Amino acid sequence: MTLKGIVVLVFPAMLLIQTAPAQEKYSGTKLCASCHKGGKGGTAYTLWSASRHAKAFETLKSEGAKKIAKERGMQEAPHESAACLECHVTGGGTASNITASFKKEEGVTCEACHGPSSGYKMVHAKGDVEKSKAAGLIEGDTSGKSCLVCHNEKSPTYKSFNFEERWARIKHALPESK
Ligand code: HEC
Ligand code: HEC
Ligand code: HEC
Ligand code: HEC
Repeated sequence: MTLKGIVVLVFPAMLLIQTAPAQEKYSGTKLCASCHKGGKGGTAYTLWSASRHAKAFETLKSEGAKKIAKERGMQEAPHESAACLECHVTGGGTASNITASFKKEEGVTCEACHGPSSGYKMVHAKGDVEKSKAAGLIEGDTSGKSCLVCHNEKSPTYKSFNFEERWARIKHALPESK
């Protein structure tokens, strides 16, 4: 093979290796709670705590969940099944994409919609929103598309999903934009 041939083959491969991003990890809500329970950060945490998203893991232990599992002939308990955790826990409840502070018991957390925080938590804690976004903080999607990742026909109890109506039930914002 000519030198040029080697360069053509190897150089793109090197680029691929260098640009492959490190896996972002989910940290749980404790960190977010410290600043989003009031004041400048708004009450997102308080509102989320009272929402069904915070109970999504617990729901998998309910009689209703057990009934669905039985009907489907599932071997494992719903709260231990990847097929249910996929939407009832941020990141699907898998062990590889979480840090030590993550608790699956918290269900569908801030990071399910605002992105895993391992990359942005340091700059975000310094109060720099622009740098946080550059490091992976997702502002929040008001088109409703990101909700459909979980609110869809794959859900055993799916009926329909209307963004305006559902967002009204979990609405939270920074103090200025209320
Ligand atoms: C050290 C305090 C602190 C921590 C920790 C923190 N935040 Fe914030 N966050 C703030 C403040 C203050 C603002 C408002 C900044 C502003 O308006 O300039 C903000 C803004 C935001 C915004 C709005 C960004 C925008 O586009 O305006 C989101 C979304 C957000 N935070 C999510 C989170 C999540 C998710 C976590 C946990 C992983 C978290 N924050 C942890 C203080 C914090
Ligand atoms: C990671 C998966 C996931 C994403 C993303 C998600 N949800 Fe949910 N959502 C759930 C699960 C699971 C439940 C059921 C929780 C329970 O009842 O235990 C739920 C329940 C709800 C409920 C409570 C049921 C009701 O209608 O009163 C609302 C409201 C809701 N979601 C709105 C939204 C909106 C709006 C978005 C997008 C901004 C969204 N969800 C994104 C998984 C998700
Ligand atoms: C594709 C995502 C998804 C998967 C997979 C999923 N769920 Fe859900 N589940 C949801 C959403 C979203 C809701 C909220 C329902 C709504 O309000 O539309 C929900 C709600 C529920 C509820 C509460 C229903 C109610 O009416 O109060 C139970 C129980 C439940 N799921 C059990 C399960 C079980 C058991 C599994 C695994 C076999 C499972 N789910 C898998 C997304 C999912
Ligand atoms: C189901 C998805 C979902 C969950 C869970 C969620 N958020 Fe949000 N968040 C959104 C959406 C969508 C917006 C709306 C963004 C907008 O209005 O531009 C938003 C807005 C915000 C804002 C205000 C942004 C602004 O510019 O006004 C902050 C701060 C925030 N979220 C923090 C949090 C924190 C902290 C948690 C957890 C305690 C959390 N969110 C949980 C979807 C979610």
